[in-house]
Amino acid sequence: MSGLQRGRFISVEGGEGVGKSTFCDALQVILQQQKLQVIRTHEPGGTPSADALRQFFLKTHPEDPLLSETELFVVSAARAQHCGKKIRPQLNQNGWVVSDRFADSSRVYQGILGQLAPAYVESVIQLSTQGLEPDITFLLDCNVEVVLSRLQQRGGEKNRFDAAKKQFHYDLRAAYQQVAQQFPQRFVVLDASLSAHAVLRSALQVLNQRWHMQLPLP
Ligand code: TYD
Repeated sequence: MSGLQRGRFISVEGGEGVGKSTFCDALQVILQQQKLQVIRTHEPGGTPSADALRQFFLKTHPEDPLLSETELFVVSAARAQHCGKKIRPQLNQNGWVVSDRFADSSRVYQGILGQLAPAYVESVIQLSTQGLEPDITFLLDCNVEVVLSRLQQRGGEKNRFDAAKKQFHYDLRAAYQQVAQQFPQRFVVLDASLSAHAVLRSALQVLNQRWHMQLPLP
């Protein structure tokens, strides 16, 4: 194994249907095979109380949908709990963290798509994370037509996407690309229209290169 002296924090970002969950599972297994202590977690959520906030966030009152500001505070409250109770303690014990979504999701969904001012979003992120940032962020970037056909298969034949839903996926992809350009040192953009196997392989190659590891390539 490499001479890594401390744990690492890896976040995984991307829209619906790009394969984040499969990717996170596979990455955790590979890292564990190297005898690293790895937890796989997710946002919003990651602890029982943060998961309670997730439920609230995902199921708000239909007659009173949340404002983007309110959304930001809810996911940030969950993030404060997640950072303080789970991510920081793990990193402090030299453990590794693989998180399905983190603060970049807020930059994208509440910031760019929710039209909140970037400085406002950054200040709330800073308060809730106390400056904790991933060491690396994999963006699973996928052609929208591929995403839509995957989601359609998942939802069965009847699931047809209207123009507004299609546009949302285009906007989401563009917003993620914008955030990736804002943090070029941290972001690694992977082509998620390729097979799960190929996406994982590219990610492991990056980790081997950046952190001088010898992870076996699938
Ligand atoms: P999730 O249930 O994990 O679904 P998926 O990753 O498959 O899309 O996502 C929860 C939703 O929460 C997702 O629509 C993105 C949104 N979200 C935000 O709007 N802001 C955030 O800060 C986070 C972490 C998630």
